[in-house]
Amino acid sequence: MPSSAAPHRNVELKGHDPDPAATLAAALALGATDHGVLRQRDTYFTASSGRLKLREQEPGGAQLIAYERADDAHARQSAYHLVDVPDPRALTAALDAALGQTVMVEKERRLLIDDGVRIHLDDVRGLGSWVELEAVVGPDSDLSAERAKVARLRAELGLTDDRVVADGYAALLLASGAATERLVTLALDARVRAHAPYSRFPVGAALRDERGGLHAGANVENASHPQGQCAETSAIGALIASGARRIEEIAVLADTALVTPCGGCRQRLAELAAPSARVHLCGPEGIRRTTTVGELLPLAFGAGDLPA
Ligand code: THU
Repeated sequence: MPSSAAPHRNVELKGHDPDPAATLAAALALGATDHGVLRQRDTYFTASSGRLKLREQEPGGAQLIAYERADDAHARQSAYHLVDVPDPRALTAALDAALGQTVMVEKERRLLIDDGVRIHLDDVRGLGSWVELEAVVGPDSDLSAERAKVARLRAELGLTDDRVVADGYAALLLASGAATERLVTLALDARVRAHAPYSRFPVGAALRDERGGLHAGANVENASHPQGQCAETSAIGALIASGARRIEEIAVLADTALVTPCGGCRQRLAELAAPSARVHLCGPEGIRRTTTVGELLPLAFGAGDLPA
């Protein structure tokens, strides 16, 4: 991959691969060149804007990649910055300390190239087999040539609509619970920083957004008591200010039998989360019970109830 100060662009498409051997045979039959197997480990760090990952590759080296991607399943585009990293262990320690990790994606990738399009046959730990098509876009391209190439290869490899998935591997792993422990840790850390001199009941909350970003908050009380703010509300403010728009998973943590979000916070969470979003009710030692936004706020009033 090229490396420079200007962002690069890709057109890419990904789907489940129920039969990787057949896909490999089909790609070779088309005349794709085989570049062998790469072992890749992507470590995602909490970023205030877009996504930030360290990619370590064998054979090869390590690169830090900062990128934005619209999760549009059909040949989406992504812009990214690449930085070569000579000492990935030291960089991981520094980013861990400053930002924290969200998730790690490990995979074996068979790389083939056909007409400038990279074909990735991926075996992803915890997620199974996938095929990914990726066309690197030239600086002056309007994307149409790259989209056409990806569409042609997609048809030739039989990557049908029902197999195409918009989410990246990191988001898929996060949805299956890979960030839950980290959310609990963030809520624990936030609780220590709460400003709760009146109730002496510090609370921490942490949220995962639709891009995999994690956001924490603590309760902030006030001498004028009604002006106090719950931990969940503080965390929602951090999520929105980061540019994220949705809440995918929630942890609330306090030192009581079972802390649950107050009525007002249930309404605020329901504004941005699906009823199925998981809510982990935690004590200092970890999760005590997991529920959902819908279970906490049944028959919710929402945007759909307002006149158009
Ligand atoms: N509190 C939260 O921050 N979140 C909850 O889920 C329950 C209650 C705060 C509000 C107030 O600062 C203190 O806990 C006591 O009610």
